[in-house]
Amino acid sequence: MDRLLIRGGKRLEGELRASGAKNSAVFMLCASLLADEPVTISNVPHLRDITTMIELLSTLGVDVIIDEKMSIEIDASTIQSLVAPYGLVRTMRASFSVLGPLLAKHGEAEVSLPGGCAIGARPVDQHLKGLEALGAEISMHDGYVRATSGGRLKGGKFIFDFVTVGGTEHIMMAATLADGVTVLENCAREPEIVDLADCLNKMGAKITGQGTDCIMIKGVERLGGCHHDVIPDRIEVATYLVAAAATGGKVMIRNANPAHLDAVLVKLEEAGADVTLGDDWISLDMHGERPSAVSLVTSPYPGFPTDVQAQLVALNSVAEGSALIKETIFENRFMHVQEMNRMGAHIQGAGSNTTVQVKGVPSLQGAQVMANDLRASVSLVIAGLVAAGETEVSRIYHIDRGYEQVEEKLQSLGAEIRRV
Ligand code: EPZ
Repeated sequence: MDRLLIRGGKRLEGELRASGAKNSAVFMLCASLLADEPVTISNVPHLRDITTMIELLSTLGVDVIIDEKMSIEIDASTIQSLVAPYGLVRTMRASFSVLGPLLAKHGEAEVSLPGGCAIGARPVDQHLKGLEALGAEISMHDGYVRATSGGRLKGGKFIFDFVTVGGTEHIMMAATLADGVTVLENCAREPEIVDLADCLNKMGAKITGQGTDCIMIKGVERLGGCHHDVIPDRIEVATYLVAAAATGGKVMIRNANPAHLDAVLVKLEEAGADVTLGDDWISLDMHGERPSAVSLVTSPYPGFPTDVQAQLVALNSVAEGSALIKETIFENRFMHVQEMNRMGAHIQGAGSNTTVQVKGVPSLQGAQVMANDLRASVSLVIAGLVAAGETEVSRIYHIDRGYEQVEEKLQSLGAEIRRV
């Protein structure tokens, strides 16, 4: 199994180009099931979650052509199966969201329930309630959800009990082919939802209100092909900015959208970074200084993203001062804490708590560490970059799910990191 070896203590300096957003691209691959014609998605990152999704589409009989620049053409007119098996849905939760598009287009579908995952129970009740509000009949058998609609879904009103990113994306996709108008309230507002809606509208959908908490979808009878470029991955951009800030470094990230990162940039400035913004780039300069501690509370967009919480814990572990970090989205998202403490960090309050206190220390010490989730794993890489000596991060298949060429990108910023 691959591991990353990091010799820490070097400032990150240089320039890199961010990849396309994984969490946009996976839903666009689901959305392509709604179209009668080929859909082409470009700027797709080359990641394990994307290949899992492509494998699932191929299992359904969908034709997928990928070129060398990761432009993916999906022709769902060749579909042969409406059953998404456990083996694939289990490895990537987002693939559960093929249920709505398959149902909306073909009137029936069967998709395995995804089960829990390392960062929490992650139920899909809002997805199922939303589909029922559009007239779907849902039943369960042997760990599978079976949904039928006896024809087209019916437009309706649905208020999410709480804000859910995947739930919003799932019901928005299903409603595009429903008979009549659907109004979704208490929606998530993440940029990936706006990107997905833009892609669906190019296919001929009639969606308005994306990016607000109320989305309206006028159902259409069919969707056609389109070409869509995925937005830059704001979480990847944030990760490299935080890594640079933690090391006292200076970086420029290209292919970034600064407007998607307000909450993170405010925290980086609070930590002492000079941040400069362009139309599609962000630069950060710590002038060689140690960061100051920054407290934060995660919340749905436009609040501070849960997907950058672990990285900020790593930064705070070597900051001047003490910070409180509160996680409100997932119940078990502090797996990095014990590992960072093994590297000499002073972090208290993990376990069943939703808040940890991080007392910054001047330096961490390298160690053998691992984590069971993508963002926790990458935060250990950041900890390794600021630690004295060598850090070995194992189980890096988690990092490969969400970070394209992580070691090459960090090497381009001067990090001593290699895959073994
Ligand atoms: C998306 O997950 C992202 N994944 C996550 O990114 C991200 O952390 C999360 O949104 C929050 O921003 C993708 O886009 C593929 P939610 P999602 O539904 O949609 C609970 C990463 O590292 N909930 O907004 O699954 C749920 O358990 C990943 O890239 C229900 O109870 O998140 C959680 O506590 C990890 N019932 C909260 O809501 C439901 O039906 C928010 O989850 C749905 C969700």
